Amino acid sequence: MTTPIIVGNWKMNGLSADSADRVKSLLAALAERPATGTEIVICPPFTQLGLLAPQLKGTPVALGAQNCHMDEKGAHTGDIAPGMLTDLGVSHVILGHSERRRDHGEVDETVREKAVAAAKAGLTPIVCIGETEDQRQSGEAQDTIGWQIKGSLPDGFTGVVAYEPVWAIGTGLAATPDDIKSTVAFIRAELVRQFGESGKTLRILYGGSVDAGNAASILAIPDVAGALVGGASLKPDAFLSIVYAVP
Ligand code: G3H
Repeated sequence: MTTPIIVGNWKMNGLSADSADRVKSLLAALAERPATGTEIVICPPFTQLGLLAPQLKGTPVALGAQNCHMDEKGAHTGDIAPGMLTDLGVSHVILGHSERRRDHGEVDETVREKAVAAAKAGLTPIVCIGETEDQRQSGEAQDTIGWQIKGSLPDGFTGVVAYEPVWAIGTGLAATPDDIKSTVAFIRAELVRQFGESGKTLRILYGGSVDAGNAASILAIPDVAGALVGGASLKPDAFLSIVYAVP
């Protein structure tokens, strides 16, 4: 039985007061109408993890980070070790998001090393893959995704895979259900090829302009275990609509 998972990636948005208010609204709504059986994770900026951890402790909402380093400690100015995250009560970490690949030159090998370190520290890695618009236009989408799976996911991977077509992120143009369905089927086949039996049960999320309006049709696609939500996760009502749209 697959547990659905809805992840809110707040990216680089909001100050402490905004985030605390947002969490308060989410928790109040979930107390009124629980989303039993769905794993809900929010990933605020690093600076707010320590503030939100006590607010979320013992609630149905888990705390995630947007990145981590692959080393446990050392001379890495500005970086955060996986153990520093678990120390705060963080349980999940997004890795290899296309914005990190783009802005920080992260490559598959880096992502894989981070996934190993994160899992070792007890975090659930959510590894992002997905093709750019150019790759899509030139018919290289599947090859790109195939290479990302091979390169970014370590042996024994037990985390979550997030399929995020780069062209759908923040554009308001989500991939169509048919496109998501066929790409997720391709990802599943690659996971099984790489991991054998365990590849059959790894959860695959879709991300890219998921909102209150399209969530139900996306979450109803076979083998889509949930969503990685950016913009809409900043609005509690929209995020909750997505959470409640889980079939
Ligand atoms: O991590 C989230 C994704 O990048 C999706 O962002 O929902 O704003 O398109 P978006």
